[in-house]
Order: sequence, then C-alpha cells, then structure tokens
Amino acid sequence: ADILVLNGPNLNLLGTREPTTYGSATLADVEALCREAAEAHGFSADCRQSNHEGVLVDWIHDAGAGFARGEVAGIVLNAGAYTHTSVALHDAIKGVGVPTVEVHISNVHAREPFRHHSYLSPAATGIVVGFGIAGYRLAIDGLAAKALADGR
Ligand code: DQA
Repeated sequence: ADILVLNGPNLNLLGTREPTTYGSATLADVEALCREAAEAHGFSADCRQSNHEGVLVDWIHDAGAGFARGEVAGIVLNAGAYTHTSVALHDAIKGVGVPTVEVHISNVHAREPFRHHSYLSPAATGIVVGFGIAGYRLAIDGLAAKALADGR
C-alpha cells in the first residue's frame, strides 16, 4: 500500500527558506527520506507538494478512494500555514477517514502564538512536531504500526 505524503505551501522552498527554523534539507531530501522510511515497512510513499489549499483537499479525497480500495495506508500531512487557517482541510481529513499524521518540522508551540492553534489536530490520528525532517519518518513509522494493529 501507499503512504501519501502531502506537503503544503512554501515547503517547496525547503533548504533555502528560513534555514535556522527549517534546516538545510530540500523537499527532494524529505521525499527521499519518506520513500526510504515507507519501504522499510513494505509500503511505498507517494509524495506530493502544492501551494494550493484546494489541491491538497483533492489529494486527501484521492487518498480516501485509495484507502477504501485497500491501496492507501495513511496520509502524512504537513499543511504549512494552512494548518492554522483551514477548516476545509480539517473537513477533508474527517470526511475520508484515512489515518492522518500531522507533521511540523519546527516546534510550532515554541513559535509565534498564531502557530499554536491547528485546525488539523482534532481530525488527525497523531501529531509530530519539532523533530525537523526526521518527523516525517516518525509519522510513517506511526502509520505503519497503526496499519499493522488494524490488520490492514
Ligand atoms: C510548518 C509550521 C507552520 O507554522 C508554517 O507555516 C510552515 C511549516 C513546519 O513544518 O514547521 O509552513 O508546518
């Protein structure tokens, strides 16, 4: 099965964007790490990035269809700033019922107050924040453990 790894707005700029906050790894590095982490559990990673909220909603719906067919095990979602604004992404996660891990590279709770609230957390299976890009691996490990526990 696939693990869908969705990165939202501005994450295409990883590596050059605020490196003291987000590190020097690029999005390509993150996606390679995700493929490796997924393969270690016998999954494959389908990695996508968009700056557009509705595109992310569409991809969550795709994951829902894949999950229903037994082809998708879960979603790893770093929605970037949409985390803090998007009721649509909250509704999409709830609407498809696919196990979803919310990831943030930085510890959002140690940053500006506007980053402390997430619309996604109440809809997520779990949350990984503050471990840098290693958080994507932790999220994939968590989804693999959940798929095993759920017999999927
Ligand atoms: C982020 C944290 C968000 O607050 C921010 O808007 C991002 C990246 C992170 O990975 O730490 O774009 O999701």
